[in-house]
Formats: sequence, C-alpha cells, structure tokens
Amino acid sequence: MIRQGELVEIDIEDVSSDGNGVGKIDSQVIFIPHTVTGDRIQAKLIKVKKKYAQGRLEKIINPSNHRIRPRCIVADKCGGCKWQHIDYQHQLEIKKNQVKETLTRIGDFTNFEVEDILADTDLGYRNKASYPFGVSQNGNLKAGYYREGSHQIVNLNQCPIQDERLNPLLAEIKQDLQELGIPVYDENTKKGILRHLCFRIGKNTGEILITIVISKPSNFKLAEQAPIWLERYPNVVGVTLNYNPKPTNVIFGEETELLAGRLYLKEEFAGLTFTLRTETFFQVNTTVAESLFKWVIDALNLQGNETVIDLYCGIGALTLPIAQKVDSVMGIEFDKVAIELANHNAVINDIDNVRFVVGKAEVVFPELTTIADIVILDPPRKGCQPEVIESLGKMKPQKIVYVSCHPATLARDLKLLCENNDYVIERVKPADFFPQTTHVETAVILTRR
Ligand SMILES: C[S@@+](CC[C@H](N)C(=O)[O-])C[C@H]1O[C@@H](n2cnc3c(N)ncnc32)[C@H](O)[C@@H]1O
Repeated sequence: MIRQGELVEIDIEDVSSDGNGVGKIDSQVIFIPHTVTGDRIQAKLIKVKKKYAQGRLEKIINPSNHRIRPRCIVADKCGGCKWQHIDYQHQLEIKKNQVKETLTRIGDFTNFEVEDILADTDLGYRNKASYPFGVSQNGNLKAGYYREGSHQIVNLNQCPIQDERLNPLLAEIKQDLQELGIPVYDENTKKGILRHLCFRIGKNTGEILITIVISKPSNFKLAEQAPIWLERYPNVVGVTLNYNPKPTNVIFGEETELLAGRLYLKEEFAGLTFTLRTETFFQVNTTVAESLFKWVIDALNLQGNETVIDLYCGIGALTLPIAQKVDSVMGIEFDKVAIELANHNAVINDIDNVRFVVGKAEVVFPELTTIADIVILDPPRKGCQPEVIESLGKMKPQKIVYVSCHPATLARDLKLLCENNDYVIERVKPADFFPQTTHVETAVILTRR
C-alpha cells in the first residue's frame, strides 16, 4: 500500500497520452512527469488515489537510452514543451503508437494500419509565438510561456522551438515596451493594458508580423513606436494592435488595428501564395503541414471531376491546393476575417472554382443541398459537432478526409461516422506538427463501403 509523501523507486514502462512517464508499484499505476520509458527513478508520491497516483521526479537512478539533455535552458520550468528530455526518434514512436492506441481504445477500430509519421526538423519549427506579459519581482516587464500547470510566466528571451528569426525580436521589443511604461494586464484584477506579444513569420518568405494584444485602447505611444520597429527589422512587414477586453484565456479579441506596414504577411505554401494575419488560423508547422496536405491530395487519387466541401477551412490552406485538382470546392469557416483572406488568396492565385462561406459548420453544412464526392473535416481540438456528423450520415460522400490535432476526438468522431458500417478506414497518416510537445496531428481517409 503506497502513501502520499512516500519516496519510491520505480521503472518507467510507458509514456501516457498526456506526456507523463508511467510506472507501477504492485498494480497501482503511477504517473511521473519529466520521465521516459526505460528510466529507473526515485519519485515522491504527491497524490495517491484509489486507481492511480502522481509522483514528482526526485532523482534519476538509471537514465533511459531515450533520455537526452534538453536543448532549452528553461525546459524544466516552462510549460511550453513537455518532451525536451526525450530523443526525437522516440517522440515520433510514442506519437505513432498514441494514434494507434487511441483509435483502438476510443474508436473500437481493429482493422487498420497507422502509416509512418511525417516529420521534419525538431527545433525552430513554429511560425507563430504568443507570449503573455507579466511583471518580474524587480518590476521589469517579462514575457514568456506559463510554468507547467500554472499561470506564472517563465520569462524568455529566446525559445528553441520558434523559428529562429523571431528570437532577436523578443528581448528588444520587450525592452521597448518597458520603456513606454504601459501597465501590464493582471488576470486576477482585470486591470492593466498589455496582454500578449505575438509574432507570425512566413517560413518560406521570411516576412514577419508583430502584434501587441491590449485590453483597451491606450495612448502609450505604440503608434509612434511601430514605425521604428518596421525600420529596425527589415523582415517585419507589419505591426498591428489587437484589442481583447474579455477576461478569458483566449488570446485575440475581435478588433485589430494597423499601426505600421500591412495587416498581413505573404507566405508561399503548397506552391501557392497566401496572405495571412497573426490572429487568423494557420498551421504552426509550415513544412510538415505542406507534407501532410500533399499526402492527403495524393491519397485521394483525384480524377479532376470531383465536388469537394472543406469544413473548418481557415484561410484556404488545403481548400486552394485541392481546388487545382478537382471540379469545384466549397470552404466553410466561421471566422469572417479568415474567409476574407481565403477569398483574396483565391484571387491572387487565379483559382476560380472555389466558393467560401462564412458560418458555423454545424449550421451551414446541414442546410446544403449540394452532394459532395469528398468532404474534408479539419475541426479544432474539440472535434466535430453532432450536427456535422449527422449530416455526413445523410449526404454519404464517397470519401471523408478527417484532419485532426486531437486523437481522442478524432477517434470519437470516426466511430460515429463508421457505426452504421457506411465507412471504412482506408488510410491513417500521423504527422508531427508539434515536436517537443505531446501533441500529434493525424489525417484519416474514410471510404464509403
Ligand atoms: C484546425 S483549423 C483548420 C484550418 C484549415 N483547414 C487549415 O489547415 O489552415 C480549424 C478552423 O476551424 C474554424 N472553426 C472553429 N470552429 C468552427 C465552427 N464551428 N464552424 C466553422 N469553423 C470553425 C477555426 O476558425 C479554424 O480556422
């Protein structure tokens, strides 16, 4: 019988889907963050429940062969990355297994194969950064990521998973903002102004946008500072101000104002030119997203006469490449700024067989009379709404492509789509959009029986 506060020695046998090492004492399962399969460790038990316990790593007795020295100096504090201590090859194996295990456990699927995971570089991959602001003990402005499981900010002057061209901007812009003396927004009191410092970079063009999120309009000379940044950093093409008065964890508010340069950057993606903004959705890992979307298009074996509906289409990052290969595509997305950009992106690429509709997928899709040959789903983490799944059951397209960043909701929705034996899983392709973290992207192709 184990007790809270006890020190135990334990072998780590597995890694859970939320990224913690898993070991056992008798038959009790113990989860220990910052460990990996093959470690023998000493841990302090900090929570003991009937079915499981949580431990804190105290000492590594024998390190696993998969254990490496983190490439980030704040890896043990920052909650941004959970797997800096695991070698990249093993991270990929864990993710592939996670997809297989989740589709089996939650989806009840038995007869399917998970293909090799798509991956590229394990550092410097993120094209977007959003750092919350805070105030350090000596009163200086800080910006960074939250400490794991808290809202305490770990101050950062660089981050190894960001595109390295963004690193020089972080410390200098923080310094400039500190000199402007703008009060930092306090989540508890809801007072103050500065909320987030955000960057977006076009990986293939190098163009950068700087966006400052504030709680309310202020006259702290940001408008005078913006052109200075534009001049100082040749790759910066725009500085914008986003207002977010809401007391929630959502980073961006609805209103964005241009301070200098332009509201958008240009990016080359999948052989096309895209315009995107800091606050509109764009896959954070440009290179691996390109590879996954190419895989989807190849796997569909398109003949050129297909009608496609792309639900949750964003700025058209998959809609437009696919439009070049089929008869027509309709993209549906609830963010009206994203749809404005999607329409603009269609025009600048001379693509005229697409139609973009602003609206909620669960409202617009059930009302459509068009019968598509292929429906693409790429919802946020919470997965598709029941109305979308129900309408797919009625429309019965020949193929459904489901691109997901959350294996559990993917498995739940695929189970619903396949429960009447209408569809069968044809292919499953995981992709590592988020190295050093526990997250995994997956594309699944379902074919009608
Ligand atoms: C994971 S992103 C995918 C975007 C796009 N397929 C891409 O790869 O760039 C999900 C998108 O769904 C949109 N979205 C979220 N909930 C929605 C809903 N209920 N109806 C329509 N769009 C929604 C978000 O604004 C976001 O652009």
